Parts: sequence; structure tokens; C-alpha cells
Amino acid sequence: MKSTNLKRTMLGLNGLMLVTAFAFAPGAARAQGADLAAMPEVKPGKAEMIELGKHLFFDKRLSGDMGVSCASCHAPDKGWGDGKALSSGYPSMEYFRNAPTVLNSKHRKRFLWDGRLDGSDAGTLVRDMVTEAHTMNGDGRLVQERLKQVPEYVALWEKAFSKGSDPYSPRMFNAVGEFIKSLETTNAPFDKFIKGDAGAISEEARAGYALFKGKANCASCHNGPIGSDGQLHKTGVPEHPDVLKNPLRTITMLRHYATSGMPNYMNARTDVGFYAISKDLRDAGKFQTAQLRDLKYTAPYMHNGVFATLDEVIDFYNRGGGQGSLLKPLNLSAGEKQALKAFLLTLSGDPVVVKDPGQPDMQIRANYGKN
Ligand code: HEC
Ligand code: HEC
Repeated sequence: MKSTNLKRTMLGLNGLMLVTAFAFAPGAARAQGADLAAMPEVKPGKAEMIELGKHLFFDKRLSGDMGVSCASCHAPDKGWGDGKALSSGYPSMEYFRNAPTVLNSKHRKRFLWDGRLDGSDAGTLVRDMVTEAHTMNGDGRLVQERLKQVPEYVALWEKAFSKGSDPYSPRMFNAVGEFIKSLETTNAPFDKFIKGDAGAISEEARAGYALFKGKANCASCHNGPIGSDGQLHKTGVPEHPDVLKNPLRTITMLRHYATSGMPNYMNARTDVGFYAISKDLRDAGKFQTAQLRDLKYTAPYMHNGVFATLDEVIDFYNRGGGQGSLLKPLNLSAGEKQALKAFLLTLSGDPVVVKDPGQPDMQIRANYGKN
């Protein structure tokens, strides 16, 4: 128990140093003339790792009570999120933020709404999801012993790694990481358009694209292949009322602050975003720029799911964002708002369908002469 806590604290510190380094990185200023781009063609990961990771993604035995899998909160038929404004969290908890899609994880510069983890390290993100009390509450060693008693997994393990290798939690996290990195937006009309097929999106959507880059100024933050600059900004999204009405949600929020070492956290009654990580008051209310791919499947929107539809999101920006943001009102006409929405939807691709492979049974394994 003690050593786990210590490990968590140390890992928390590592994460902190990492994101602090980000905060001072050059390029934090808003990009001028920034634009979206087509999904890049990237070399796929090792097929055997992805196959193993896929099985583990759907396996509830990765969680403490064997009742929750990654897919419980990141369901393929719900845009790889859970369709709820706020995540229920691990049984007996209620989380204070939305469960985002895992699509395009490969292209994220940072993970999590407050950007607290490095986007190039999916293994660490997966470890957090498995071991954190509010998601799966799984103990890495316990889970690894469970997996060793599943003959199918031992076989998949040998294919993914090497003959004679055995389930081992850091590799388990990496395999799930490879699987989520294989889930990408494909066949989006925008990609065909930007690669030269002018007719791939409607005239209305083309007008929306011009607004996106021009009058509405969305591209200054939403740029690159997934529509995110990977930076933290304050747009002033309103609080979700349930976070303060439901004690269980207030508790997961305060626990997150306590874990992050935020000063005077017991008095916090709002989602302070990146401030909890950086402890720099200028970061209060900053969240990482959400990606704009596959919005068609991922409602509700924002870190707390407070907007149910894209119309609500566009109205929010049209008002100049919320309290404390530096955004200016946009004065978009009804037609311009529709055009912007039509454009946003062209960034969505075909549904990414993966069938739940099911959980192979555990069987007590014969002594195999090592460990
Ligand atoms: C109980 C629900 C729950 C479970 C189970 C769960 N997650 Fe999550 N996941 C979340 C929530 C909530 C967040 C956002 C947390 C935050 O930002 O504070 C998240 C964030 C993520 C992100 C970051 C996406 C982004 O754009 O930043 C990824 C990737 C992810 N989870 C993958 C996984 C994987 C893989 C598993 C299984 C090992 C898993 N999750 C299990 C609820 C869950
Ligand atoms: C100053 C940078 C900035 C600008 C400008 C900006 N956004 Fe955002 N956008 C963000 C951030 C940061 C978030 C996440 C905010 C949160 O969750 O609290 C976000 C979230 C979103 C989301 C939610 C996505 C999801 O999956 O939840 C949509 C949709 C969106 N923005 C569309 C737009 C549109 C359309 C425009 C132009 C009218 C725009 N944004 C302008 C920074 C920006």
C-alpha cells in the first residue's frame, strides 16, 4: 500500500516537471495564419502489439473490481467516449470531467483536458487510466498476475514480444497504447478537399472554412491535422452545475487538486484546469485545445460536456466565449453559423468500428519452471 502511494507521488512529480517544461516552450503564443491539415500518413505500429492491446482494451480484469474496461468509458459506438457530459468514473465515484474520445491519440501533443501528460507517451497515459482510483483502480502487479492465468493472452504476448515472455504490466500499458494509437480518423471529406478534390465538401462548408480561418478566427488555436495547437487556453467555458451539486464529483475534483499539490485546494470550487498542474495563477481556467476530428460522434462537448450540440458551441464562441476569456464576439449571422457547423462536420471520418473480442477465461496455469 505504502510503496504504491509513494510510486504515485513520484510519478505525479515526473508528470509535473514534464508539463512545466511545456509551459515555457517556445510557440506558446497564438499562431498567426495557422491552418488545418490533412491526416498524415504514418507508419502503423506492430500488428501483434495492436492485437494484444485490443484484447486488453476490452478486458475488465484490468480494473480493481474486474467490472470496468477501457471500453466502458471509451466505447466504439459512442465515438470512443461515453456519450455523457461528465464521466461516472470508477464504481462508487463520480468524475468531474468528460471522458474524451481516444481517437487520434497518436496525434495529440498532450493528453487529458488539462494537458498534464505528454502526448508522445501513450504508455504512461494508459498506466494512469489503469491505476488511478477514479478510472480503473487497478494494481499493476495484480492485473499482471491475472493476465498470466489466461492462456490466450500468454500466446498473444509471445507473438507481440518474444517467445517465453510473460504478461508484465509496463508492457501491458504499452500494448494498449499501441492499440489506441492505431485508431484514427479516415476518409474525412475535409482530407479529400484539402488534397485537391474541391467538390468533396459543399459550397456551404467551403464558406464555413473561410470563416474558420478568417472572421471566426478558430484556426488560431484549432490547427494542424487534428485541429489542435496542443496549447492551453482560457475560453471561459461555464462550470457544469453538477460538479458542485453532487458531493461525489466535488470529491474527485478536490482529490485531483490534492494529488497535484495545488495550494489551498480545499477552497477551490471551480475546475481550475492547468493551474492545478503549473501552480501559476495565469493558468487558471486553461484547458488544452480540443481536437476537432470526429465531432459528429463525440457530443457532448468541452472538458465538462456542458454543451450538448455544436450549435451551442458556436453560439458560445459567437458571444466571445465565457467569463475571463480574451475572445471577442464574432457577430456571425445565422447563415454563417450554419456554414461553420457544416464545415466542422467535414472533419469527421467514417465510424471507427472495432468489435469487442470478448474475455477469454482464466485457467490456473501449470508450473512453467520460472519465477
Ligand atoms: C471510468 C471511466 C474511464 C475508464 C475506465 C478509462 N478512461 Fe480514459 N478517460 C476518462 C476520463 C474522464 C478522461 C479525462 C480525464 C481528465 O482529463 O481529467 C480520460 C482520458 C483518456 C485519454 C486522453 C484523451 C485526450 O484527448 O486527452 C485517453 C487516451 C484515454 N483516456 C484512454 C483510456 C484507456 C486506454 C483506458 C483503459 C486502460 C481508459 N482510458 C479507461 C475516463 C475513463
Ligand atoms: C483561444 C483558442 C481558441 C479559439 C480561438 C477557439 N477555440 Fe475551440 N477550443 C479551445 C479550447 C481550449 C477548447 C477546450 C475548452 C474546454 O474544454 O474548456 C476548445 C474546444 C472546442 C470544441 C469542443 C470539442 C470537444 O470535443 O469537446 C469545439 C467544437 C471548438 N472548440 C470549436 C471552435 C470553433 C468553431 C472556434 C471558432 C469559432 C473555436 N473553437 C475557437 C480553444 C480555442
